[in-house]
Amino acid sequence: MKVLVTGGLGFIGSHTVVELQNEGFEVVIIDNLSNATEDVLKGIAAITGKTPLFEKLDLREKAAVHDFFKKHNDVTGVIHFAASKAVGESVEQPLLYYENNINSLIYLLQELQQKPEASFIFSSSCTVYGQAEKMPITEDAPVQTAMSPYGNTKQIGEEIITDTAKVTNIRAILLRYFNPVGAHSSNEIGELPLGVPQNLVPFITQTGMGLRKELSVFGDDYPTPDGTAVRDYIHVVDLAKAHVIALKRLFDKKNLQKVETFNLGTGTGSSVLEVINSFEKVSDKKLPYKIMPRREGDITEAYANTDKANNVLGWKAQLSLDEAMASAWKWEQKVRS
Ligand code: WQD
Repeated sequence: MKVLVTGGLGFIGSHTVVELQNEGFEVVIIDNLSNATEDVLKGIAAITGKTPLFEKLDLREKAAVHDFFKKHNDVTGVIHFAASKAVGESVEQPLLYYENNINSLIYLLQELQQKPEASFIFSSSCTVYGQAEKMPITEDAPVQTAMSPYGNTKQIGEEIITDTAKVTNIRAILLRYFNPVGAHSSNEIGELPLGVPQNLVPFITQTGMGLRKELSVFGDDYPTPDGTAVRDYIHVVDLAKAHVIALKRLFDKKNLQKVETFNLGTGTGSSVLEVINSFEKVSDKKLPYKIMPRREGDITEAYANTDKANNVLGWKAQLSLDEAMASAWKWEQKVRS
């Protein structure tokens, strides 16, 4: 079974390619290298002993997508990561986000609907819930008006897939990630944010390396135990393994509906200060930080109810926040060495 992984040189994509190859799948990656380098192929090969097929291609080019599927007509499964994903940037450049994240999805689905059958895994996000009323968050929590064009592209993407699956032979699983963090234990692949990191953990590890003067903690006046915002930080390797399980579920036709949705988190919420403490514990370094005003668009808390993923998908996160922080720190030190 040849599996297409779009955005397969990215953070979550590369970790998923490793797990797919470990399970014996033949993988072909599409990546436009807008947020990754081809060196990641070496990291994947170092871990698995196999270099995946790779095609540099922009999924916004409809004709190129069509040619790809003509050439790789044995692709029957797709894991779709490729998308722009910076919340703040999406507010400044909405059309870039709608064109990239929506058009790419449409062109992929237009090719897959030609096949007698196709399995499609979609990289979605807990951001679709906005600030959920009830914690932990279940999959039937209402999808709320998106707080950013990025979040809106995930909501629209889920709707496009659902409507398309109804009338085609496409079977899909929507995976709503909480906060992916950490790096592979081999230290061969990890997160490589371009420019100033928007996300908490890479900013912490870069501050730990002295690349950033101090971490700005965006708000300590939230209604949480220590006043800082709470998220569900899931190790990227646990997240990657969930994608392989989900793909096998579709290949084996074990899915109960044409489109299934799963929250992927640990089920535990951690505050910003708790993440800082975890970093200080695993790195044995004091992290300089300053309490700043809340960041526009941030929610107070989000952590997953993992019952459906555990009981239906048969997947459970295994790695702890400390293990994630230790792997992220080890990776940062290697990248900067
Ligand atoms: C986590 C917490 C910040 C940086 C976003 C997207 C989500 C997914 C993950 C793509 C928040 C605080 C952060 C900093 C801070 N992205 N923080 N100082 O916003 O929960 O989720 O990234 O799929 O879809 O919405 O992640 O890491 O940016 O922030 O205090 O320098 O850390 O306020 O409470 P977020 P994050």
